[in-house]
Amino acid sequence: MTILMVGAGSMSESLVKGWIASGIIPQTITMTNRADRGRLSELAERYGVQIIEDENVESFDIVILAMQPDGVLPYVKSQTWTKQIIISVAAHITPDEIENLSGCGAICAMPNTPVAFRTGMTGLWFGQHVSTGQKEEAKALFQRVGEVAETDEATMPFLMAAAGCSPAFFYEIVGAMTPVLAEAGFEAQQARRIIAQAMKGSAELLLQDDRPTEALIDDVAAEGGPTARGVQVLRTHELDKIMRAALSESAREA
Ligand SMILES: NC(=O)c1ccc[n+]([C@@H]2O[C@H](COP(=O)([O-])OP(=O)(O)OC[C@H]3O[C@@H](n4cnc5c(N)ncnc54)[C@H](OP(=O)(O)O)[C@@H]3O)[C@@H](O)[C@H]2O)c1
Repeated sequence: MTILMVGAGSMSESLVKGWIASGIIPQTITMTNRADRGRLSELAERYGVQIIEDENVESFDIVILAMQPDGVLPYVKSQTWTKQIIISVAAHITPDEIENLSGCGAICAMPNTPVAFRTGMTGLWFGQHVSTGQKEEAKALFQRVGEVAETDEATMPFLMAAAGCSPAFFYEIVGAMTPVLAEAGFEAQQARRIIAQAMKGSAELLLQDDRPTEALIDDVAAEGGPTARGVQVLRTHELDKIMRAALSESAREA
């Protein structure tokens, strides 16, 4: 299996890093971009991938379109496609649009940057011309770097908000909590690690324990205790409304 990454920005690098960590041979991945050749050389040195300036998409099995959304359809139109699986990671592009221009099966994927550490969450929206075998191949590729959920036109914006945008929400929460620990005497970096590790452990419990979220809260928040009092502060300030508004705003068509 050969992969061409069109675009060499942060999303592209995160995927490549995760895939190589999962055992994909670096030489089977080729990266290209529009102008920044220094960036390509840097990635070749860092990961051992191949780099190319004038690519021929026909030479690859899977072509990942990892440029900004406005570049995707012009790029698809400019190339000659044969039997490639085309996977776009750009927001607000549909598989139909790519399939109409290429004649190939297309998938719109929405990964997030934790794929670099193989803890990603990727939504996959399959086009009409994607075969069962191609679906399995695409799922397996993204399962190497985390979990996968199948999406469609209605659910993709919310997957994008909940997985693609939410890392920034979590960093925002960590950023708000860190100074409280720093004021208590921890170094800022240590404060950040304490909170991040607590979040990581809580996420692990959420993934391993199927009981309702409310039951997990009850496990920690004894009545009248410090956790229950903190949770009450969050509820008084209507955190649920804040999170709902943030997710809805990120899911809204720009
Ligand atoms: N970052 C995220 O967390 C995230 C999450 C999910 C999805 N995405 C999607 O991933 C895509 C890339 O995001 P990013 O954050 O990695 O962006 P980025 O850092 O700005 O990188 C964009 C890359 O695309 C290249 N490029 C642009 N037009 C091109 C063209 N016509 N042909 C070949 N290469 C081209 C750029 O090359 P030059 O520098 O040479 O111009 C650059 O390497 C976006 O569509 C975004 O919606 C991002």
